[in-house]
Amino acid sequence: MIHHIFNFMNSFVVFLLVLLSYSHNVVPVKSFRTIPKSDVDLIEFALNLEYLEAEFFLYGALGYGLDKFAPKLTQGGPSPFGGKIAYLSPLIKDVTLQFALQEVGHLRAIKNTVKGFPRPLLNLSSETFGQIIDSAFGKKLYPSFDPYSNDINYLIASYAIPYVGLNGYVGANPLLKSPLAKGLIAGLLGVESGQDAVIRALLYERKDEIVKPYKWNVAEFTNHISQLRNTLGKGGIKDEGLVVPKELGAEGNVTGNILAGNIFSYSYARSPQEILRIVYGTSNERTPGGFYPQGGRGTIAKSFL
Ligand SMILES: *[C@@H]1O[C@H](CO)[C@@H](O)[C@H](O)[C@H]1NC(C)=O
Ligand SMILES: *[C@@H]1O[C@H](CO)[C@@H](O)[C@H](O)[C@H]1NC(C)=O
Repeated sequence: MIHHIFNFMNSFVVFLLVLLSYSHNVVPVKSFRTIPKSDVDLIEFALNLEYLEAEFFLYGALGYGLDKFAPKLTQGGPSPFGGKIAYLSPLIKDVTLQFALQEVGHLRAIKNTVKGFPRPLLNLSSETFGQIIDSAFGKKLYPSFDPYSNDINYLIASYAIPYVGLNGYVGANPLLKSPLAKGLIAGLLGVESGQDAVIRALLYERKDEIVKPYKWNVAEFTNHISQLRNTLGKGGIKDEGLVVPKELGAEGNVTGNILAGNIFSYSYARSPQEILRIVYGTSNERTPGGFYPQGGRGTIAKSFL
């Protein structure tokens, strides 16, 4: 009898192990055939932003991007223009490298789930960032803002990047149909928000520091960048700097704004159109520019071109 039970238990354990290894094998394989087309389009839209983030952080930390780091992930797309190694302290370089590798992981996750497309042409030149900052302040800065010249400038430039990805993931989530797509987007959103929180926390510590050689402090830089994105996006207030009027703070009752959130302190959502208006810097999803001189790729971005 005891022998019998033991045998039964044994085969049950084997059955469980088979089940486990089976489900383990099923999840990560290429599964784009099982996801509705509308989910594929939304996931692929995000790939545009993940390429930008991966390249910006790889260049900032290492001085080279996917072409050298993980050439297969480019699928033969053109090399980015203007990326450079940033002059960073050991701490900020360490954080930037971690972000870069996280983005490489995100690219792999997306490409394991949907077919994807080759890397779009990206413009990571100092001039691209310089123009964003000029627009944010409504005047030409002298010297032109250089994202790669020190910790503060690189963090301010980074402030402009994962946050928009976060908005896109929050916007995409209610539109997704399949559990697989929802799981992927939630997982990407989690880390994207974490990156934004790290960047904001590092900047918040220095919010009163003057960004040399200009006359504005760190908080004023973030407030102007956020206001610019609200204007470009044409979707109302969905972006907030590090110090805000009380009404925009948590519970409408605090001016410190280490995280951006709506009246209930939950994350703002943006549509693909709003995101394209911002990352193109043109306020028009049909007019490429900014980080994407030839526009984004995939069904959604292409539908506006
Ligand atoms: C990148 O942007 C800068 C500034 O707008 C521009 O001068 C340069 O031509 C752009 N490069 C490409 C490849 O689009
Ligand atoms: C704002 O916070 C203060 C305490 O910090 C409290 O006395 C006040 O009632 C709060 N007002 C609102 C509108 O929540």
